[in-house]
Amino acid sequence: MHRSARIGILTVSDRASRGEYRDEGGPAIEAWLDAALTTPWVALRRVIPDELHEVETTLATLADTEGCCLIVTTGGTGPAPRDVTPEATEAVCDKLLPGFGEQMRAVSLRHVPTAILSRQTAGIRGGALIVNLPGKPSAIAECLDAVFPAIPYCVDLIGGPYLETDPVRVPSFRPAHARPPD
Ligand code: MTE
Repeated sequence: MHRSARIGILTVSDRASRGEYRDEGGPAIEAWLDAALTTPWVALRRVIPDELHEVETTLATLADTEGCCLIVTTGGTGPAPRDVTPEATEAVCDKLLPGFGEQMRAVSLRHVPTAILSRQTAGIRGGALIVNLPGKPSAIAECLDAVFPAIPYCVDLIGGPYLETDPVRVPSFRPAHARPPD
């Protein structure tokens, strides 16, 4: 039986979770993934406040119970007192992948000097790769374009589904030994 890849999209925002404004980050991530992925996939969308415990339990549930191979968060990565998404990510991950944050900040700094304020990170929890993005909708494509080429192979390495992308939208890089025969 063919199962679609399950991808969590988590918006962390006090105001969006209270309905004070429309969540724009979650839909922007879903639209980006829809355009990039050729593998069948389903989105599991959540919108929650900037509460450390709630972010941790939502990430853990998406990874452990919902079977997501990838969880993309948006928001809560900055220096403000309520910004706790990186702390929650680090708390639930078995391994951290600091290169993701480094690369996203480096690319984002070409667009905006305040990119340095984001503490966005990434890591592995069981069979899920968790990647933090800033809350600005414009940051979503900038960051995903910068790191997505490495994501399908990362998902391979943690036992997830074989993700394929539209190379015109975003290439996926795998070492030669990890590519299927022509
Ligand atoms: N990265 C990109 N690509 N584009 C942006 O507009 N905004 C920055 C930064 N990273 C931004 C960005 C700003 S102003 C902040 S405060 C931090 O992300 C943290 O944002 P967050 O708390 O919404 O996650």
